[in-house]
This record gives sequence, C-alpha cells and structure tokens, in this order.
Amino acid sequence: MSLLDTLHRPLRDLRISVTDRCNFRCVYCMPKEVFGPDYQFLKRGQILTFEEITRLAKLFATHGVRKIRLTGGEPLVRKGLPELIKMLAAIPNLDLTLTTNGALLAQQAHALEAAGLNRVTVSLDSLDDTIFKAMNDVDFPAAKVIEGMDAAAEAGLTPIKVNMVVKRGLNETSILPMARFFRERGYILRFIEYMDVGHSNGWRMNDVVSAKEIIETIHREIPLEPLQPNYSGEVANRWRYQDGGGEIGVIASVSQPFCGACNRVRLSAEGALYTCLFGTEGHDFRALLRNGGTDEEISQRIAQVWTKRADRYSELRSEKTIGLPKVEMSHIGG
Ligand code: GTP
Ligand code: 5AD
Ligand code: SF4
Ligand code: SF4
Repeated sequence: MSLLDTLHRPLRDLRISVTDRCNFRCVYCMPKEVFGPDYQFLKRGQILTFEEITRLAKLFATHGVRKIRLTGGEPLVRKGLPELIKMLAAIPNLDLTLTTNGALLAQQAHALEAAGLNRVTVSLDSLDDTIFKAMNDVDFPAAKVIEGMDAAAEAGLTPIKVNMVVKRGLNETSILPMARFFRERGYILRFIEYMDVGHSNGWRMNDVVSAKEIIETIHREIPLEPLQPNYSGEVANRWRYQDGGGEIGVIASVSQPFCGACNRVRLSAEGALYTCLFGTEGHDFRALLRNGGTDEEISQRIAQVWTKRADRYSELRSEKTIGLPKVEMSHIGG
C-alpha cells in the first residue's frame, strides 16, 4: 500500500541511523568545538536495539519503503552491525545499503556482504592528505579509505559510490583530481553541495560551491553530458563522460532543491522519526515500541506522520531558516 504526503509524495526510502557516534570529526558535520570530549552521546539504553529497528523496518516496508540505507554517525562503529543487516536482509524486495566514512570498511566488507548488504556509499573529500586530514580532523589518511572501497568492491558491494562534500576554501582544488582518480577506478563519484544541516557547522552561502561550477570545472578538462535519472526522485543529477569513461553525480540540494520528489524518511538512533533532513523535532517511536505498542498502532502512527508531511526545507531556505535549531547530521545520517 502506498502512502502519500500532503504534496502527493510516496514513502519509499528509509534511512536508519544506528549510532550518533563517529570516529571522524569532519569540520562540516561534527566540529570538535561542539563534539569534543565533553559531548554527551547517546547511552546504550537510549538507542534502539536491532530487534526494535527490524520491527520498525518491516512495518515501513508494508507502507511502501523499498530502500533502506544505514547511516550514523558512522554506522560501522555500531557493534555487531552484520547481525542487524542479516535481520533486515530478510525483508523482501529491499535495496539494502549503507553510507560509511570507510575507515573500518576494509576489515568489515566481507562480513557485511555475507550478511546480505547489497552495496555501499563511501565518503571521501580529497585525495590530498593535507586537505583530507584538515577536513576529517582526526589525522586519517585517504589511502585507508580507498583501501576500504577496494575491499568493498572485491566483496561485491557494488556499484561503489563515493560522496565528496565540496566546501569553498577547503577542497575545491580536489574536484579534478578526484574526478580523474575515480574515473580510472570505475567508482561513481558524487559531489555534494555543502549544506546548512544542523546548527554547529557555521554554514554560510559563500561556502557553497555550486553544482554548475563543479560540472564546468570537470567539463573543461573531460567533456561531460547529462544522463537521465535512474529512478524518480533520485537525489543526484547524473552525468557521463562523453568518451564513455563512466559517470559522476552532483547533489545540488542548495542551488537546485529536489524536495518536489522527496520520498525519504529518517530514523534517528534513539528512535525519533524525521520527515526532513532539516527537521527540528522528530516523532518519538521508541516510546511506542517500549510501552507495548502493537504493530497495528505503530503502523497507524507511521501513516499519520507521513500523510501529514509537508516538508520542503531546501525550497524554502532563506536567511531566516539558516539559524533554526535543526537536528545534527550525525544524529540522523545523510
Ligand atoms: P542512491 O541510493 O545510491 O541513489 O543514493 P542517494 O543518491 O540517495 O545517495 P545518498 O543517500 O548517499 O545521499 C547522498 C547525499 O545527498 C547525502 O549524504 C546528503 O548529503 C544528500 N541528501 C540525501 N538525501 C537528501 C535529502 O533528502 N535532502 C537533502 N537536502 N539532501 C539529501
Ligand atoms: N553538507 C553536505 N553533506 C554533508 N555530509 C555531512 N555533513 C554535510 C553537510 N553539511 C555528508 C557526508 C556524507 C554524508 C552522510 O553526508 O560527507 O557523505
Ligand atoms: Fe562522521 Fe560522516 Fe559526519 Fe564525517 S560526515 S563526522 S564521517 S558522520
Ligand atoms: Fe526532502 Fe527535506 Fe531534503 Fe527537501 S530538504 S529533499 S524535503 S529531506
């Protein structure tokens, strides 16, 4: 059964954050000044168990969800993750995927694939260690992330996609080297416009390098042409190299918002449901799960939340919305 929200958008994509913790401190996501040693992360009892997540996921699937993406924080720091994947993989007709920073991927790729994960998306902002380390802020080298991607490719977690957030003054000089490298490697590189998610990264419009600028930079050296979306509501605009050397994507949520076809919902590690990446408050499903809510009740609550949904933050973004107390990216994943 398909649910429609107030703007007639169906529910298709569920993103599940399995932890609010991360082994990186990317300056645009978890800056150390905010996420320092005193930051209060969620305690074990506050986060959903694998059984609770799976129970919700099954109910979402009955409402039309066809893709589940595991996120964080960094999902691979959650203990025993392959167990959860195994439980979710038992739900029929799902595209089951995961977004990771790649740091722990080389050691986990086989177990993830064996548990039933279909594919992965790996974040990497530069091949230049001076730049990459300035962005992850934990002295982590790019080569280790690439090792993780290669292990994932070898394990069959394909197609491998690579996410690069572009922030002006930090890594726009890495656009071309990244494009050349991943064209060679055969992984699908996607450039993400820096967004005003959360309220700790000090976002300014001037920091955004637009999709247009990114495409022009690459096109000047390696000619590109646009491709049709793979499916309705796809986040990335696809481009292919004219010489047949593969494809790239740009996620232009600031310069070309795509709320009109947004079919995504996000579940935080503590069981709050957000109908927009820029939400300020979630809907508490943990209480319902832990206070004896029946499947029928939970299912009705999902339907209620989605059918009332009217979010289109990126289309309404303005000076006024930027300072709103939005949920952090590390809390609900990307
Ligand atoms: P595929 O399943 O491979 O098509 O993945 P995807 O295109 O959905 O990509 P992914 O989930 O990796 O999203 C890439 C990035 O796009 C995220 O990390 C976010 O930064 C951004 N993004 C994803 N969904 C949304 C959204 O609903 N709104 C906004 N503003 N940005 C989004
Ligand atoms: N703007 C754009 N993308 C972001 N990500 C994290 N924070 C931001 C931001 N402020 C990206 C990560 C990762 C994905 C989960 O979201 O780099 O690729
Ligand atoms: Fe961690 Fe990803 Fe946020 Fe970087 S962007 S701090 S890797 S959750
Ligand atoms: Fe969807 Fe909100 Fe992103 Fe718009 S801003 S695409 S409504 S998550």
